[in-house]
Amino acid sequence: WWSGVEMGPPDAILGVTEAFKRDTNPSKMNLGVGAYRDDNGKPFVLPSVRKAEELILSQKLDKEYLPISGNADFCKKAIGLALGDDHPALANGLNVTVQGISGTGALRIGSTFLSKFFPGPKTVWLPAPTWGNHVPIFKHVNMDVQQYRYYDPKTCGFDYNGALEDIRNIPENSLIMLHACAHNPTGVDPKDEHWDELSKVIKQRKLLPFFDMAYQGFASGDVAKDAYAVRKFLDDGHNICLSQSFSKNMGLYGERAGAFSIICGDKDEAARVLSQVKILIRPLYSNPPLHGSRIVATILNTPELHSIWLNDVKGMADRIISMRSKLKDNLEKEGSVRNWSHITEQIGMFCFTGMTPQQVRGEEQIGMFCFTGMTPQQVEKLTKDHSVYLTKDGRISVAGIASTNVDYLAHAMHQVTK
Ligand code: LMR
Repeated sequence: WWSGVEMGPPDAILGVTEAFKRDTNPSKMNLGVGAYRDDNGKPFVLPSVRKAEELILSQKLDKEYLPISGNADFCKKAIGLALGDDHPALANGLNVTVQGISGTGALRIGSTFLSKFFPGPKTVWLPAPTWGNHVPIFKHVNMDVQQYRYYDPKTCGFDYNGALEDIRNIPENSLIMLHACAHNPTGVDPKDEHWDELSKVIKQRKLLPFFDMAYQGFASGDVAKDAYAVRKFLDDGHNICLSQSFSKNMGLYGERAGAFSIICGDKDEAARVLSQVKILIRPLYSNPPLHGSRIVATILNTPELHSIWLNDVKGMADRIISMRSKLKDNLEKEGSVRNWSHITEQIGMFCFTGMTPQQVRGEEQIGMFCFTGMTPQQVEKLTKDHSVYLTKDGRISVAGIASTNVDYLAHAMHQVTK
């Protein structure tokens, strides 16, 4: 039956972990997937999560099915975290919020709903570059994928003018995807005043903004501050779509806890939209997993755990920031004369070494000179000669660096870039 099935390529991000596992070099480093490590390079379970699990265990709860839309407590607290618990859209019942199988699952619910019900063109406009999985998430539901300028390789920063120009040319009533904070893969976010202008232009073009919020807390260490864009767009009268993940900010990677929301025009519209979202979810996976959503709901509903969690998030964000400066300092100590300032200027989990959007889209030959940062050949050498694993576009997960190996990494990066 399957003799005609061709071998597919490994996943651009998770395939890096597979290759890392096969490597026997004791100094190997996995900077591919965005998964936080402690300062000894070990997986980290947040103290707030441990405490929430003890509390849940002591309650001897049952293991019944969740409703199709998921854990109601979880959904309420998840959307409250993004918008602010006292946001009028929530008090007025304008939100449809369902539990998703983490961020990817939430996006998948969104793309499935939009492909069926979105009245505008069945095209999504993504930033260039964007998280690799965004593209298949929309292509699998037969939506067309287009990109707007986002990253400026000349400055290793946000291409504000390019983004505005491209967005002004998006056909009216289209769908635009925005990373709410800690943009993946670049670690480059618009400033607040940039968001204000983006909101205005997106309103003028009558676009539907779909925010992907997978790193709330990882940009600034402050969950409310990281929600600036989402809240500003709502204040400006946008009715947004939103996907959320608790993989990173609660370290619940394998628990698959996320949420998808649509803010509707009125309560009646919300009820109709929810009914259709449930009809789409039921044949996909029936209903979502329980444990992760219980952990999130317990933390967000228990004031003592909530404050421990805020501290946990801040601690993770601060450790990442300290790794950024240590890496930059160590590169200088190694004698590198290159400008590595983007390492400390970029935020969130990732550091992007600087390919052009064309390279990321595969329109230019791999191997071309990069304005700054590492070329694809240097990336390959880093892996082959030094067992440092990162994605081919030159993204490094700074969250995977530890005090014990930051000097090893700087040495390896200097060797391949000098
Ligand atoms: C990443 O970009 O590394 C994370 O979002 C993990 C993933 O699923 O790709």
